[in-house]
Amino acid sequence: MDSLEINKIVAGLLVVVLIIIGITNFAEILYHVEQPKVAHYVIEGIDDTNMASATEEAVAAPIEVPILTLLASANIDKGAKIFKKCSSCHVAIKGGANKIGPGLWEVVNKDKGITDGFSYSSALAGYGGKWTYDELNGFLKNPKKYIEGTKMSFSGLKKSNDRANVILYLRSLSDSPAPLE
Ligand code: HEC
Repeated sequence: MDSLEINKIVAGLLVVVLIIIGITNFAEILYHVEQPKVAHYVIEGIDDTNMASATEEAVAAPIEVPILTLLASANIDKGAKIFKKCSSCHVAIKGGANKIGPGLWEVVNKDKGITDGFSYSSALAGYGGKWTYDELNGFLKNPKKYIEGTKMSFSGLKKSNDRANVILYLRSLSDSPAPLE
């Protein structure tokens, strides 16, 4: 084999190597897909700690529908059923006695903590204001968080629809129910 032939072989090999490198790069350009930096969808209940903080905020702060909007489509029969959770402690009839909790006749728009003959916690008695729909909504979601120190031992109604239904029922416990506005 003379040196010219060796040169040809080397040159040939070089060309093959260059072609292979070329094809690989070309494929890379064709098929390379940018990885998104932020996930563009959020699945509830999935651990999203690796996602960008913007999506975490979106999960942490769901938009609250105003209680009046929910009341407009609430169901009083469902509310009466939910009230069974309350009735071990509360009576729902006019002139009804206090039990573990105060009677709840006419409770909507009533001053907080004033039912005769019931001994309220100082937390509730001193909280002030009336039981508006909004305040009932906040209290019933998580009583102990809403009025720290309340002695109402109830974990709360986590679903906003459950709260709307039971609040619509509470509204009916009156000779002249409060307006829905
Ligand atoms: C385990 C007993 C218990 C259950 C269950 C319970 N409550 Fe109460 N509730 C109380 C007690 C006790 C108080 C008084 C709290 C205080 O003085 O801090 C109270 C207070 C209240 C008040 C304030 C009344 C006022 O006169 O200011 C409302 C409204 C109320 N409860 C609604 C409900 C509703 C609606 C439910 C069911 C979804 C419910 N509660 C479930 C025991 C209970």
